[in-house]
Amino acid sequence: MVNAAFAVWNGTGAPPAASETEAWLRYAPRDAESAKPYAQLPSRVEVLHESLVLDSAQKELIAGMSRMLGRSVQAGSGGGNAFLLGSAPEARKRVPELKLPALKPDGYWLKVTRSRGQRLFLIIGSNDRGVLYGVFALLSKIAREQDISNIDEAEQPFARLRWVNQWDNLDGHIERGYGGPSIFFADGKVRYDLTRAGQYARLLASIGINGCTINNVNADPRVFRPDFIPQIKGIADAFRPWGVQVALAADLSAPKVLGDLDTFDPVDPKVAAWWKNKIDEIYRAIPDFGGFTIKADSEGQPGPSTYGRTHADAANMIARALKPHGGVVFYRAFVYNHHLDWRNLKNDRAKAAYDNFHPLDGEFDDNVIIQIKNGPIDFQVREPVSPLFAGLRRTNEAIELQITQEYTGQQRQLCFLVPMWKEALDFDMRINDKHTPVKALVAGRVFHRPTGGFAGVANVGMDASWLGNSLAMANLYGFGRLAWDPDLGPEKIIEEWTRLTFGNDPEVVRTIDRMQLSSWHIYENYTGPLGAGTLTNVTGNHYDPAPESSERNGWGQWHRADREGIGMDRTLATGTGFIGQYPPAVQKIYEPLASCPDRLLLFFHHVPYTHVLHSGKTVIQHIYDSHYDGAEEAAGLGEQWKTLPGRVDEARYEEILALLEYQAREAIVWRDTICNWIYQLSGIADQKGRVGRRSQP
Ligand code: GCU
Repeated sequence: MVNAAFAVWNGTGAPPAASETEAWLRYAPRDAESAKPYAQLPSRVEVLHESLVLDSAQKELIAGMSRMLGRSVQAGSGGGNAFLLGSAPEARKRVPELKLPALKPDGYWLKVTRSRGQRLFLIIGSNDRGVLYGVFALLSKIAREQDISNIDEAEQPFARLRWVNQWDNLDGHIERGYGGPSIFFADGKVRYDLTRAGQYARLLASIGINGCTINNVNADPRVFRPDFIPQIKGIADAFRPWGVQVALAADLSAPKVLGDLDTFDPVDPKVAAWWKNKIDEIYRAIPDFGGFTIKADSEGQPGPSTYGRTHADAANMIARALKPHGGVVFYRAFVYNHHLDWRNLKNDRAKAAYDNFHPLDGEFDDNVIIQIKNGPIDFQVREPVSPLFAGLRRTNEAIELQITQEYTGQQRQLCFLVPMWKEALDFDMRINDKHTPVKALVAGRVFHRPTGGFAGVANVGMDASWLGNSLAMANLYGFGRLAWDPDLGPEKIIEEWTRLTFGNDPEVVRTIDRMQLSSWHIYENYTGPLGAGTLTNVTGNHYDPAPESSERNGWGQWHRADREGIGMDRTLATGTGFIGQYPPAVQKIYEPLASCPDRLLLFFHHVPYTHVLHSGKTVIQHIYDSHYDGAEEAAGLGEQWKTLPGRVDEARYEEILALLEYQAREAIVWRDTICNWIYQLSGIADQKGRVGRRSQP
């Protein structure tokens, strides 16, 4: 497996019909009119030095130009106009008069210039990966009909580490995966045919993702067996041409479980030596291995607490073995007790990440990154940001976002998550009363940390459309774009994605953008009110409405709904004190009822159903209305889609229509389940007289 894109197409002969597998890299042919502005582009590409990644960049450029513009671009040096592909030092040698902008690792510069009578289209990267990203950026612009005639554009990644996590098990099943079986594993082994792994790496590279943890965070120690490492090398080989580093989720008890030692105590020198040997062995097979993602002492996973050690002891022990090779440890902050006593009103799962990691701030090595879920609970449809982002000042951080829609409709329902992520990234923590948004914290910009970034739980599978629904791919695309540049707005991101995926017909773009941009609020409306949580089946499939499942168990996803009221009291004054984990300026927003925003009210406060919101409605009436509005809006998604037949290819049109019609029915089930439940609990009638009657689906 060398160059997977060209398992799809090798750049010669007729291009195949675009397939779902190509997602936003469809390179749909331009008609003569819209190809005209690109007539000036060179017909030759010169690569300034050889490398696997530059080879991919060149082939991608040739393929994209051929498929979109019907242009045959030849590789090789010589006179005349040319695309010039190379890293900054090589470019300087080739065109000495160039004034290169300062580029950070993985950054690129697109520039049209003239040198010695030649018209050059420069695609210069700070490194090879940057060149590849520059090629993808250029092709994206052509696909979106952007003017590139006099381009002069330098782009830098906002954060250094932009990884995806796959929760793939070795048997091929993906935890919380809704797009079919694993592209990496089957029957306890790495797949023989890794074509899809290469295609995935190509997609990831096109949005600037530079690392991928390939196995479930509930990790299987067998990945460290000597016979498994050569298999992982196969995946690394498929990723390498696209500049994506392979990484592993590590089970800290591996030295013991694999039978090599009788302990996994992180401060025991035998254990440190085991990891050092193992890591050296991995790097001998995979010199560009990225490192580990670690879930420890959480949901039954083993961890340092077995020996009374800290997370810093465990993380650093591994980080030190990785350090000489340049590897990193993403150590997850998702650590909590899932046997909490629900009777105790002071218990609060939301406090766990901060309680566990804040005291360790400053104790982690420089190549450890604490990976923090965006919210303090677990990827619910509405949560405040985790206070831990502000709680670590001498520690690297990454934000963990969930692309796979575990609690948000499992890809069977439309829920574009970029607006939600954007809110989290833009949230201002007001540390020391200064502008300190979460995005700056995770990129290490506030406290000048050496590294940091983004981890997205993707969970693509073997389905042709990767996530099981082609519209859901906007979430994977959007994750990459935000990790590259969190200042991008959801409107810009979705417009890019829609044009790349469905073409430039303005009606199609307008309609799909509107559907996607409204979908999170719609989903929230008919599933989870006012920050109470999703009310999904928490102990089961995380999908169906089952509001009672949150209560009376140790999982801590409580909404505390009773006869009088609803919501978790997390105040300092009378509640769990969770609000106290935020910087004072943020506490001041959430603690008083008067300033707490409606959308998060029930996350922070327990209030009577008759409490009047800032909107002027009572809580109970808001719950009724939002569920009825949401169900109606969900039906509206299908109606909007129905304006597009003939404008979208038939296969995708029909497939998506069926899903949207299903979603409209599910929204009614949700509406009726939640409204009837809350009506029975509260005994307060819906002012509009809808609730309690039998529904007419
Ligand atoms: C959620 C999810 C689990 C997963 C866990 C995690 O709780 O349901 O399947 O293992 O998150 O992020 O570790």
